Amino acid sequence: MKDMAVRILVYAFLLLHNFAQHSSASNYCCSEPRCHCIIRTQHKVIANCSSLSLTLSPNFSSNVSAVNLSENYLSRIPAQRKLPENLEILDLSANNLDSFLTEDDDFLRMPNLVSLNLSSNNILPTMENYQEDVFQNFTKLRELNVSNNTNYFVEIWKNQVLDSVWSPLISLEKLSIDAIQNVTFGESITSLTKLTNLTLAGQCGKSRLKTIKMDYFKPFPYLRSLDLSSNVYFNAVKHYYEKEYSCTLERVDSGAISILHNLEILDVSYNRLLGLCGFRNISYDLPYTNIKVFKANFLHCESGISLTLYCDDLKPFINTSLRELQMDGNHIAFGQMGLLQYIPTTLERLSLRSNRWVVDQYTHVFLQFLSGIKYVDISDLNDHQMSRTSNIYEYCYNFLADVNCQTFRGKSLGTDQTPYRQGFCTMDRSISSGKYIDIVEPVRESETVLAKPAKPYCSVDFDLRNLYVLFKRLPPFIDTLVLNNSRLGNELTWTVFRNDTLESLILSHNQFYSMLGPICNATKLKHLDLSHNRCSRISTYVFEYQPNLETLYLNDNLLGNSNLFEEENINEIFANQTNLKNLNLTSNQLLWLPTNIFWNLGKLKHLRLDNNKLSDWNFTVGHMSELEIVNLSMNSILSISIGGMDFIDQCPSDTLIIDLSNNPLQCTCSNKEFIKWMTENSEKFWKVDSYCFNCQGLGACTDLVSAHQYLRKNCSSYFSLILASSCVSLAFICFLLMAILYRYRFKFRYWYYIKLRIDSTQAHILDTRQYRYDAFISYADEDRSFVTRQMVENLEKGKDIRLCIHHRDFMPGTSIIENITNAIHRSSKVVFIMTNSFLRSDWCLYEFDAAKAESIYSFSRKGDMMLFLMREKIIVRKIPKSIKDILDHDTYIECPDGGNDEPEFWATLAQAIRD
Ligand SMILES: *[C@@H]1O[C@H](CO)[C@@H](O)[C@H](O)[C@H]1NC(C)=O
Ligand SMILES: *[C@@H]1O[C@H](CO)[C@@H](O)[C@H](O)[C@H]1NC(C)=O
Ligand SMILES: *[C@@H]1O[C@H](CO)[C@@H](O)[C@H](O)[C@H]1NC(C)=O
Ligand SMILES: *[C@@H]1O[C@H](CO)[C@@H](O)[C@H](O)[C@H]1NC(C)=O
Ligand SMILES: *[C@@H]1O[C@H](CO)[C@@H](O)[C@H](O)[C@H]1NC(C)=O
Ligand SMILES: *[C@@H]1O[C@H](CO)[C@@H](O)[C@H](O)[C@H]1NC(C)=O
Ligand SMILES: *[C@@H]1O[C@H](CO)[C@@H](O)[C@H](O)[C@H]1NC(C)=O
Repeated sequence: MKDMAVRILVYAFLLLHNFAQHSSASNYCCSEPRCHCIIRTQHKVIANCSSLSLTLSPNFSSNVSAVNLSENYLSRIPAQRKLPENLEILDLSANNLDSFLTEDDDFLRMPNLVSLNLSSNNILPTMENYQEDVFQNFTKLRELNVSNNTNYFVEIWKNQVLDSVWSPLISLEKLSIDAIQNVTFGESITSLTKLTNLTLAGQCGKSRLKTIKMDYFKPFPYLRSLDLSSNVYFNAVKHYYEKEYSCTLERVDSGAISILHNLEILDVSYNRLLGLCGFRNISYDLPYTNIKVFKANFLHCESGISLTLYCDDLKPFINTSLRELQMDGNHIAFGQMGLLQYIPTTLERLSLRSNRWVVDQYTHVFLQFLSGIKYVDISDLNDHQMSRTSNIYEYCYNFLADVNCQTFRGKSLGTDQTPYRQGFCTMDRSISSGKYIDIVEPVRESETVLAKPAKPYCSVDFDLRNLYVLFKRLPPFIDTLVLNNSRLGNELTWTVFRNDTLESLILSHNQFYSMLGPICNATKLKHLDLSHNRCSRISTYVFEYQPNLETLYLNDNLLGNSNLFEEENINEIFANQTNLKNLNLTSNQLLWLPTNIFWNLGKLKHLRLDNNKLSDWNFTVGHMSELEIVNLSMNSILSISIGGMDFIDQCPSDTLIIDLSNNPLQCTCSNKEFIKWMTENSEKFWKVDSYCFNCQGLGACTDLVSAHQYLRKNCSSYFSLILASSCVSLAFICFLLMAILYRYRFKFRYWYYIKLRIDSTQAHILDTRQYRYDAFISYADEDRSFVTRQMVENLEKGKDIRLCIHHRDFMPGTSIIENITNAIHRSSKVVFIMTNSFLRSDWCLYEFDAAKAESIYSFSRKGDMMLFLMREKIIVRKIPKSIKDILDHDTYIECPDGGNDEPEFWATLAQAIRD
């Protein structure tokens, strides 16, 4: 968008700049929106304005040489004073002019005018309009176009002789004027010795010229180029409400053309009532001219009968030096045998398109006489079977005329005109070879049936009896053969051309579902067109013998569905095309390409792969130093893979342009690399600004720059999001682990000390089930005296129970934790002296946890190892849950408050410890 705006601004600036330079011209722009004008200086456009105000009186600078005022709804020619003095080119076509008069009721006087275009106005070709002094002073005028100044309904009944009006035009070379039956050109035009080109425009109309009489062209003795063609394609037909045909010549009298001795180019095409009889009248006149190019296309109405071209029709040509003959669309189905002897050796180009050649009938010709032929076009065979006429009310009314004409033309053949029996025409030329030769060799008597070779090949000495080979004879020096849409059958088989001269072979729009080849004796072939054939069967050797191919069109086939992709040696298909410059594989349903399929195409410049189903670039181009264009538009490429980008990067050509338009390009974080690479290499992509990237969140049509920015922003935050979230989860896991560790810290410690350390060193202790202590006393410091005095007194001394008291038994130099664990581990029971101080002491709680862990996790323990001694009333809510759980289940012993109960208490305790 921005780019566009800038361009418009620049354009506007240039325009203004131009106006500033030629300020006089600026006066010409008016405000009427429908008008436009183009003003040129020395053929260079200096102003292109939307309209021209002719009410102003502008002052053209004298260096303005061309003024184009076409399609400006002018009803009068601008006044002389408004136009540049030295004007050379004036275009007033397609206005509403109805006379040569200017706004000032005068005629233009423009001594320097070279070209005047007044076509598509309403200046009728009458004596009233074409007055004597209309073109006075136009002595330099070389081109005058007054055609298309009549319309269908114009009727000019009175004879009009446009005579003296022409005499000032002494430089006139080219005149285009409507052909009206009653309008003739007088004597004066004869004096225009430079008038060489005449177009009698084939306007449709009631007064249209229908018959050209013998002396019609008498006033034009210098003509070199005469165009009598009708400008309506389907004009032999009349509408059902019309009385007469109105768009075509119906007759050219013989002798009419023969007076044009200098005539070189004659075009009578699309006069659909002229027929081959009209053609014959003309052709018999041609030897008296200097004819080089004769265009006689479509001389019959479209739905006419099929015709035979007789030797007599072409006979006069042998006495001409014709270079080009066009006879398209003339319903020719048969050519009389021997016909081609009348083709002069000067003929280089022959066009016989849109005819109805019956196979084998048109082939029986003297090909060796066509020694000048370089170009033959026999396209569009039998196209009449599908009408191209869009008007369903159009009918062909001259069926009888055609039949009569056919009879007339064939009268020398007697009554039997069946092409099969009419045989050869009389021989007028001696045949050196003494033998008639066909394009297709005559049916070969196969005496010995040769064995079919495993792989068809080309060789210099083919046996003509080889039934597997199709021998094709062509004119001896032909270089271009066009057989587009010629219904050549289903297969391009093993073919041998009898002369190796072809450089260009067009076989498009046939129905070759199979192309196996090879094509032999066509080694000079540079251009081969096999497009539009729906081919789904192709061999890897079909092009093997065309080493000089420069252009190969295989577009619009079905190669993607073909057997080719199952072939092992698929890479051989283009192996011999080392000179190939253009390869067109458009519209072939290709899904992929083998990496090395183009391995030998070192000179490739243009590669078209558009409109296929490719999803990536997977072929090497590292050897194509001249590669310029690779068209991959309209494929299914979401993004190009790393490998594909590598292939492209390896291309040594600096001028490579890749077209990726109309692909469903995606912008997702996963192809961030591709987008980045594309941004860096954007000069490699054709119209990269127009590519649509489908970005989630940005819409289906995001441009490259935005897509790149979007990905850079979103994908990096995406990564940091991943990073952040993984950090968070890591932290969470850590936290969880720590929580677990903390939660089970005693178990872990227990494991650590017991399993890892004690188990290994003092496992035997456990094994023997011998505890060093009967009880480990866990107590708070505040209860120290109770333990060290009363308990030692009553239990150790009185009851012979070994106690573990940390104040006394812990090993110095060992950590407390280790000591505790050891002590618990080595004691049969653990006695907790429950006081409020106990609950406040971390070490005591730790000892409790350790003991609990030991009781749970030590398999050697049996029964309850924890004893609780309640020394004082404990506030229940202060007891930790874990202790409370155990207290709820286990019984505990309460200390007596003194007196008689004491001995019994110690006895119970001793008993509990020993249990
Ligand atoms: C002839 O002129 C008419 C308008 O006057 C225009 O519509 C038509 O296109 C012109 N035909 C040709 C062949 O220029
Ligand atoms: C036109 O030609 C006439 C004579 O033929 C001449 O007198 C006149 O000056 C010319 N006008 C212009 C504008 O050249
Ligand atoms: C030509 O003019 C003559 C009279 O001069 C008239 O009879 C004839 O119908 C006209 N033909 C055409 C085609 O206008
Ligand atoms: C006239 O016709 C010839 C062909 O004979 C062509 O080369 C030439 O350009 C034409 N002249 C003009 C002014 O169109
Ligand atoms: C064309 O081929 C024929 C034999 O097939 C040969 O006689 C003739 O000389 C060849 N012409 C050229 C120009 O090679
Ligand atoms: C191939 O072409 C050459 C020269 O045009 C010709 O002489 C030769 O006979 C052709 N080969 C075959 C097998 O027709
Ligand atoms: C075609 O190319 C292949 C592979 O390079 C080679 O073996 C073969 O000989 C070539 N064929 C011709 C006719 O040059």
